[in-house]
Amino acid sequence: MDNKHEAHEPRIVAFLCRWCSYAGADLAGVSRLTYPPNVVPMRVNCSGRVDADMVLSALEKGADGVLIGGCHPGDCHYVSGNYKTRRRIALLKQALSEVGLDPRRVHLEWISASEGIKFQETMTSYTELIRELGPSPVRATKEAVHG
Ligand code: FES
Repeated sequence: MDNKHEAHEPRIVAFLCRWCSYAGADLAGVSRLTYPPNVVPMRVNCSGRVDADMVLSALEKGADGVLIGGCHPGDCHYVSGNYKTRRRIALLKQALSEVGLDPRRVHLEWISASEGIKFQETMTSYTELIRELGPSPVRATKEAVHG
């Protein structure tokens, strides 16, 4: 393992639905449940608002992993947003794998407003997974080109 890889700190963008997962992040915060600073939370109205372009754009801008957090099935504030997300993310993972990108770089998780501990555990385990995967080839290619 070279020094560059050892020094790798993953960058993770987490798109979190405001009604559930973002509220779960808030609960983790007020409960003093810490999670890795590698995760940058982005609040969205519903996980259904997170389209493929948003995920690809985050990867293109240097994220090593993208996590989408939404309400549990049946709990979406907009009725079916999270079902659409589930289908969309499954298709996106398939497409990523077809172009040679590890589909685990995109992850969908249901986290409710009362699941502060699940929020903490998910962010911690996903950060560890992305750390093991190493820098995203998209980021590595950009850094090689731009220095
Ligand atoms: Fe949370 Fe739709 S409002 S996933």
